[in-house]
Amino acid sequence: MATKFSSKIGLIAATVGSAVGLGNIWRFPAEAQGNGGAAFLLVYVACVLLLGIPVMLGEFAIGREGGTDAIGDYKRISPGSRWWIVGGMGIVASYMILCFYIVVAGWTLEYLVNSVTGDLFSGIADGTSSFGTKMQDYVSGDTKPVLYTVLMVAVNMLVLLCGVRKGIEKISNVLMPLLFVILVVFCVVALSLPGASEGVRFFLKPDFSKIDASVVIDALGQAFFSLSLGMGILITYAAYFPRETRLGRTAVIVSSLDMLVAVMMGLIIFPAVTSFGMEGESLEGATLVFVTLPEVFTRMPGTQVWSVLFFMLLLFAALTSTISIAEVSVRFFQDRLRMSRRNAVLTVMSPVLIFGTLSALSAGPLSGFRIFNLTFFNLLDTVATNILLPLGSLAMCVYAGWFAPKGMIADQLGNGSATRSVATRIVMFMLRWVAPIAIAVILVAQFN
Ligand code: PHE
Repeated sequence: MATKFSSKIGLIAATVGSAVGLGNIWRFPAEAQGNGGAAFLLVYVACVLLLGIPVMLGEFAIGREGGTDAIGDYKRISPGSRWWIVGGMGIVASYMILCFYIVVAGWTLEYLVNSVTGDLFSGIADGTSSFGTKMQDYVSGDTKPVLYTVLMVAVNMLVLLCGVRKGIEKISNVLMPLLFVILVVFCVVALSLPGASEGVRFFLKPDFSKIDASVVIDALGQAFFSLSLGMGILITYAAYFPRETRLGRTAVIVSSLDMLVAVMMGLIIFPAVTSFGMEGESLEGATLVFVTLPEVFTRMPGTQVWSVLFFMLLLFAALTSTISIAEVSVRFFQDRLRMSRRNAVLTVMSPVLIFGTLSALSAGPLSGFRIFNLTFFNLLDTVATNILLPLGSLAMCVYAGWFAPKGMIADQLGNGSATRSVATRIVMFMLRWVAPIAIAVILVAQFN
């Protein structure tokens, strides 16, 4: 039997830690910019509330009922069936994500170190270097990205080895509040820049004519990725939820905080970019955080301080997410294959060194090595995020809505109470009908 989180706050911090990651900080603003700002935000919020929360609750219910790893939960709840394959798919998907996400986490650490040493800004003022060239050097080199990937693997191992309470819960308790403090500081600064209101307007004033099918597809994909759904992550964490935890309330808090971080990022990036007249710049993932934002920092007094703070924020967000992704496999090896925690962590993380290195080199020396015309990094990302994630969520919904033992999900949602609340009924309806259909449509639509 898995240990439980030791406090309510710790449970929320760890789960929010998983949800809040690079998805909120660099994927969200890029998606919002490309999809009409406020219009996207609106659809995204609707996706989280209508679909994200019910699917999250499905995972919570399965995880707490099963109380073990993602495969074991299905085996325990529906013995003799093949539903465990859904859990297996989650383990594979999360492992694939781990192998490229850890590389990006490595880049954030690298940028943090280079912000502290000042290397990031050397040669910028006199024009002998640019952030574009720096990014080439830090991200596409043949040694540094690998070195930082290895460092991030080591940090993850350290936290994981300390266990659920002393490792995951403890570090989340420290890093999550810090993350929010840094975010608030950035929000205040960005919103008080001259001309900030124009950016805020773009981000918060919806233009409904911009909403079309592709906006909805992107928003749903973003919502699921950001909430860490469909990969057995929340199933695994929910095994650490004590009996008395109110699942509904937890899901609402976690999703709200996750959305809040995304919205705050929007309130930081759009005003900052418009204020410095950089609207034309790409807000696309890596360029946004590694080129556009450092450029913004150089135009502010205290350049280095802002840069250090920002990359700390990014690192905290990435670290608490990678831990949750790795924990899915660690729990599997511990419970299913009866390994000690130490051996499970070593078994899970050692191959990450190899696959992580291959991903790290994909941005540089191995960029020519392609499978289906994708680099190793992009292949992992595409297969896991665009295919396995929606497929896993869809299968989980079908199971929770139709095939799980009668009343099991509702019992979990009501903490055993015999009366079914209206909220429980709504969630069951969403799990049975709305979520599976919506996810299936998106899954098919993205191939067109
Ligand atoms: N939800 C995290 C984010 O927004 C990332 C994540 C994705 C974590 C997939 C686990 C699985 O960045």
